Amino acid sequence: MKTAAIIGGGVIGGGWAARFLLNGWDVRVFDPDPEAERKIGEVLSNARRSLPGLGNVALPAEGALTFHATIAEAVEGAAWVQESVPERLDLKQKVYAELQQHCAEDALIGSSTSGFKPSELQEGRGNASRIVVAHPFNPVYLLPLIELVGTDVNPADVIARAKEIISGIGMYPLHVRKEIDAHIADRFLEAVWREALWLVKDGIASTEEIDNAIRYGFGIRWAQMGLFETYRVAGGEAGMKHFMAQFGPCLTAPWTKLMDVPEFTDELVDLIADQSDEQSGMHSIRELERIRDDNLVGMMRAMSANDWGAGALQNVQDKAREGEAGLLNHIDQIGDLSKPVLTLNRTVPLDWTDYNGHMTESRYLDAFAQSTDRLMLLIGCDAEYIASGGSYFTAETHIRHIDEVHAGHSIQVRTQVILGAGKKMHLWHEMYEGDRLLATGEHMLLHVDLATRRSAPPAEHVEAALVKLATAHDALPAPDGLGRAIGAPR
Ligand SMILES: NC(=O)c1ccc[n+]([C@@H]2O[C@H](COP(=O)([O-])OP(=O)(O)OC[C@H]3O[C@@H](n4cnc5c(N)ncnc54)[C@H](O)[C@@H]3O)[C@@H](O)[C@H]2O)c1
Repeated sequence: MKTAAIIGGGVIGGGWAARFLLNGWDVRVFDPDPEAERKIGEVLSNARRSLPGLGNVALPAEGALTFHATIAEAVEGAAWVQESVPERLDLKQKVYAELQQHCAEDALIGSSTSGFKPSELQEGRGNASRIVVAHPFNPVYLLPLIELVGTDVNPADVIARAKEIISGIGMYPLHVRKEIDAHIADRFLEAVWREALWLVKDGIASTEEIDNAIRYGFGIRWAQMGLFETYRVAGGEAGMKHFMAQFGPCLTAPWTKLMDVPEFTDELVDLIADQSDEQSGMHSIRELERIRDDNLVGMMRAMSANDWGAGALQNVQDKAREGEAGLLNHIDQIGDLSKPVLTLNRTVPLDWTDYNGHMTESRYLDAFAQSTDRLMLLIGCDAEYIASGGSYFTAETHIRHIDEVHAGHSIQVRTQVILGAGKKMHLWHEMYEGDRLLATGEHMLLHVDLATRRSAPPAEHVEAALVKLATAHDALPAPDGLGRAIGAPR
């Protein structure tokens, strides 16, 4: 049932196609533009380079991408149809009339429309109950937000199923309970856009100065806390009420020109286009897309480490994908204890590479640290146990960098317990890409009491699980390179 039809494969439709494909769905595209296949291919190559490494767990195997000559053919077998044709109501309505004829009865139809209300798309359609707005943000393959807007004709199970599908492809369905022109987010963007046009037209700021005003300041704040939480902090200890008392009165001052729109004269359009060329014309659009994607991945991964905002969402998705990626949560789930255990299965993310174009040395330790965390989890040293006051600290590490690996490549780590007794846990990690050995990591960890910060014996159940794994691994041959000192002959 994991087949999606993409009707309109431009900037947004291409992003949807990539999002579905990389999450394991088959994708069938209809777009009359003879260039559509090339354009989608370019969006897809950007997506393949950035999305798989965003989380800490491997994505499922990619689905199949096919192109079709008619809407009727494209929607065959599709559980989800995503319409992303140009923003013209007459054109969209024409497409919906065709979709009504050819879609499976239980298929859901989402529209990418930025401005139209779902009732405008549902009007006159026999399958209105299956049509919703599913408004994404560019790049669709990285940004998780979907504004999901329905009307009274959409039954609750349609909205629930839409949420399930959207969440299943790693996105966040924000259910907009009441339809409104331009939904939620575009109303803000429109306000900021109007204000920016005035600032340029009135000669107060250039396009670059406006972008700097956003990216060096409030833009970074917004990405991680939004508006209200940011202002709550800005109110200091006195909080939100104090903030409103302090800045509320300014709202009546004529700081903004919100509803006035500057006339789009040739002069204004040229002024903005010229300034934009001067600001960014040294980069092609493809380069800018990659710069944007690199930064987005870096920011979202930083938020994952803090379990916050879009990063917290990614962590939930990683957790949901662990089983399919072969990662287990407890020793009792391991079928064959006699083999080294899989402790990492992920893609090398963009922010793990360096000026040499490959995974930088410190990230090998990052990967091994994730494997050690997984091994701890397997023996019962989980978040609850750590909160109760026990954990393992690393006392010594020896990494051998054997072969290089690049962003976007799939890596796995398998771990052998060399010693697990009392306070000591001696681990041997081997990192592979397929059959190719990339690195080994040898680590000695000590169990500690987090109150005294000193070594102390683990709880009985943790020690018993560790001993069980260590005993099973005793039968394995000693790994090549175990205990090797730097510079020692092979
Ligand atoms: N660009 C954005 O940032 C953005 C963000 C969110 C939502 N949207 C919405 O997404 C939709 C598409 O916008 P876009 O930016 O991808 O536009 P686009 O011009 O890049 O792509 C539209 C595509 O639709 C194709 N098309 C035209 N007529 C068609 C038809 N009858 N059947 C199938 N395909 C047809 C075109 O060939 C083109 O490839 C709009 O509704 C827009 O409001 C855009």
